[in-house]
Amino acid sequence: MAQIIAIANQKGGVGKTTTAVNLAASLAILKKRVLLVDMDSQGNATMGSGVQKNDLLYSVTDVLLGEVPIETAIQKAEVGYKVLGANRELAGVELAIAEQDGREFILKNALQEVASSFDYIIVDCAPSLSLITVNALAAVDGVIIPMQCEYYALEGLADLTQTIDRIQKALNPNLEIIGVLRTMYDARNALTRDVSAELEQYFGKKLYDTVIPRNIRLAEAPAHGLPVIYFEKSSKGAVAYLNLAAEMLKKSKVKKGSAV
Ligand SMILES: Nc1ncnc2c1ncn2[C@@H]1O[C@H](COP(=O)(O)OP(=O)(O)OP(=O)(O)O)[C@@H](O)[C@H]1O
Ligand SMILES: [Mg+2]
Repeated sequence: MAQIIAIANQKGGVGKTTTAVNLAASLAILKKRVLLVDMDSQGNATMGSGVQKNDLLYSVTDVLLGEVPIETAIQKAEVGYKVLGANRELAGVELAIAEQDGREFILKNALQEVASSFDYIIVDCAPSLSLITVNALAAVDGVIIPMQCEYYALEGLADLTQTIDRIQKALNPNLEIIGVLRTMYDARNALTRDVSAELEQYFGKKLYDTVIPRNIRLAEAPAHGLPVIYFEKSSKGAVAYLNLAAEMLKKSKVKKGSAV
């Protein structure tokens, strides 16, 4: 069964989509079967995986509206993993499902149908706590939180952990923080180092050792519809996301081992 992971943070522009796309690609390179689900109407994860968001025959919208089975809407991409794409139609789903019974669990139920075909399902979330994001958080085993090491990141922390606690209590008892990832990291910057130290104190072992440096290739690759590893495989960004995938696999092995 797939481990299902949301990449989430209510704060915008912290590297959620960059992490979703490049973690998916790195896990695929490490021979894992991966599905990337785009739960943001901006469709950035879709485009960043080389799938044209405006040419989608079916998208995650159709799945949430119950119009097609999830298998039909999943796209084969040329980036080593499969994609359940999104575009701006997703913005209209919220109203359409608002009154429906079990509205928080539509994605969860759909993903269960394909969970045995993948090792990892990565869900890219929008920077908001809409019913769409709630569907994502209700569907996953855990969350990876990308964070930029700046002062405002710490301010948003309490909000974020509170949100995760609330959803865990109300909708998804299994929901946990799998890991916290430092993105756009600049070790030369004193503030980065200070914030980083605070994150270490707050999250302890949940803070990944791997940090993602600020790297221009990571920002350029999406314009080519490619994860960075296919755009420039020796770039610092590509190496960092491969390291992250390896660290994640190692940690989940240790965890599984200790559970036996
Ligand atoms: N490590 C990095 N180095 C350089 N640029 C980066 C890095 N990570 C992300 N970026 C760039 O920063 C911007 C925001 O990143 P991204 O879209 O991944 O964030 P997001 O959290 O998904 O944003 P949103 O909240 O809008 O969904 C993008 O232009 C992206 O290319
Ligand atoms: Mg995004």
